[in-house]
Amino acid sequence: MTISDYILDHCTPADRVLADLAAETAAAFPDAASMQVSHDEGQLLTMLVKLIGARYAVEVGVFTGYSAICIARGLPADGRLLACDISPEWTALAHPHWQRAGVADRIDLRLAPAAETLQALPPDPVIDFAFIDADKTGYPTYYEELLRRLRPGGLLVLDNVLQRGRVLEQHPDHPSVTAIQRTNDLVVADPRVESVMLPVRDGVTLIRKR
Ligand SMILES: C[S@@+](CC[C@H](N)C(=O)[O-])C[C@H]1O[C@@H](n2cnc3c(N)ncnc32)[C@H](O)[C@@H]1O
Repeated sequence: MTISDYILDHCTPADRVLADLAAETAAAFPDAASMQVSHDEGQLLTMLVKLIGARYAVEVGVFTGYSAICIARGLPADGRLLACDISPEWTALAHPHWQRAGVADRIDLRLAPAAETLQALPPDPVIDFAFIDADKTGYPTYYEELLRRLRPGGLLVLDNVLQRGRVLEQHPDHPSVTAIQRTNDLVVADPRVESVMLPVRDGVTLIRKR
């Protein structure tokens, strides 16, 4: 048993809907399935959304909808999740599972480059919770667009902030690693927020707007 297995075994387990979604994603998109959040990370999202009493959430990077279910389940029945992605193929698998999970009416899926979707939102700081898990080179833009619309005390969560340890490299030759290093440096120096990086899966940063 690995420590990851042990952590999963000691976390509120995935229900049938999430387990089926994970299995169907692995069968339908075997080469991409590792993009899905792990269940402990999904459970963390649900808990954070509940803990801050979020009503309006935004997700950047939906894939087949696992993390969207986890976020939407933390919202009240009249809460809203704006879910941004560019892939009709991957997100098509999400719909029946969102229905089964009873959260489909809380989720508004926008298929367009996320930067465009976010820039078109009203400037008001009304977002309670945001999760960024899409193309890494877009993180600085998503961070800025979401932060200015996050309410004071709102929470922004960044995924894959450790890049499997490659953030330690002095001269990484991959644009995703460079973009994440830049984002991590930007966040820690940003006086508008307080943040903490957690070694959950590939690294998760919790960012609270002051
Ligand atoms: C790591 S996956 C998201 C995994 C998802 N959070 C889950 O739990 O299954 C990244 C997603 O970002 C999407 N994506 C990539 N570039 C994007 C962009 N410019 N705008 C919006 N979504 C994008 C991809 O289509 C993909 O579905």
